[in-house]
Amino acid sequence: MNYTALIENRRSVREFADTEVRFDQLDILRRYYQHQVRRLIPELKTQLYFFGTDTRAALEGAAGYNQFLVGSPQYLVLMSEAHPQAGLNAGYIMEDLILKLTDMDLNSCWMTFTDSEMVKEALGIVSDLHVAAIAAFGYGKKSTRRLRLNFRSMSDVDIVAKHRYMEPKKGISQLVFRETWGNTHKVLDSIGFYEDMLWEAFYAASLSPSYLNRQAYGFLLHDGRITLVSTPDDYTPETDGSLSLGIVLLHFSAVAEKWGGKIKWQFGERAAKPELPEGYQAVASCIL
Ligand SMILES: Cc1cc2nc3c(=O)[nH]c(=O)nc-3n(C[C@H](O)[C@H](O)[C@H](O)COP(=O)(O)O)c2cc1C
Repeated sequence: MNYTALIENRRSVREFADTEVRFDQLDILRRYYQHQVRRLIPELKTQLYFFGTDTRAALEGAAGYNQFLVGSPQYLVLMSEAHPQAGLNAGYIMEDLILKLTDMDLNSCWMTFTDSEMVKEALGIVSDLHVAAIAAFGYGKKSTRRLRLNFRSMSDVDIVAKHRYMEPKKGISQLVFRETWGNTHKVLDSIGFYEDMLWEAFYAASLSPSYLNRQAYGFLLHDGRITLVSTPDDYTPETDGSLSLGIVLLHFSAVAEKWGGKIKWQFGERAAKPELPEGYQAVASCIL
């Protein structure tokens, strides 16, 4: 897949035609998940469920901003075993599926949820795994005007959220720093040969979908490494924050790996420990 082009073309679609996605297309996606999908932590057990037109009523109240569900004929639900990096891994896998959908000319939208058990019960999923990520998908309608008006009539928090959701995304200069957090001086100058590759990979990262478009993260280039840092954000719940971090890792890695081969990310305790402002956290790092 041409990730740079797919990443540029993808956007969240919130209105879908009633037409169900054809069986042969679902089969392509199922096989992609089984054999090709990018996984951040391959040994982590996951399972993908497909749900059709009858699911919307069942999911109502269990998923979507303020339980406001995107109307869609179909949903993907990714289940995962518990693990400290389960959210990152689920964000990474589901975003790769979303880019595969984009490649197949299908539209999609990430869906938030708060309670795995509630979603499992609503959908009749019997599994030891927990719900890790949900996305709506189908054939998008051209206009999103009506849904934007619906956002306007929600509670105060959602009015704030709505402004965020409409905001343009942060660019590379607001996301990538050198040596110390906030330092943008000569960010890409010092890395010579890798400059073009890294620019394209950071550009892909800057276009990542994130919860309420908050982009509560950034990258630090330091000590011959790249470290993904999560930034404090009162609006982003933990689950959505982890998924958003997994998504940004997928965007960065899928593009950077075109040149450099497989990136080995180290997480948690094994990630680099650059000096960061209070509340900021090193999530994953790799050698440049
Ligand atoms: C973890 C996560 C949860 C999201 N949940 C919802 C949701 O419940 N409803 C919705 O309309 N959009 C949802 N979104 C989509 C974001 O609002 C969207 O990605 C962001 O506004 C940027 O827009 P874009 O995807 O068109 O680039 C979610 C995105 C992420 C990453």
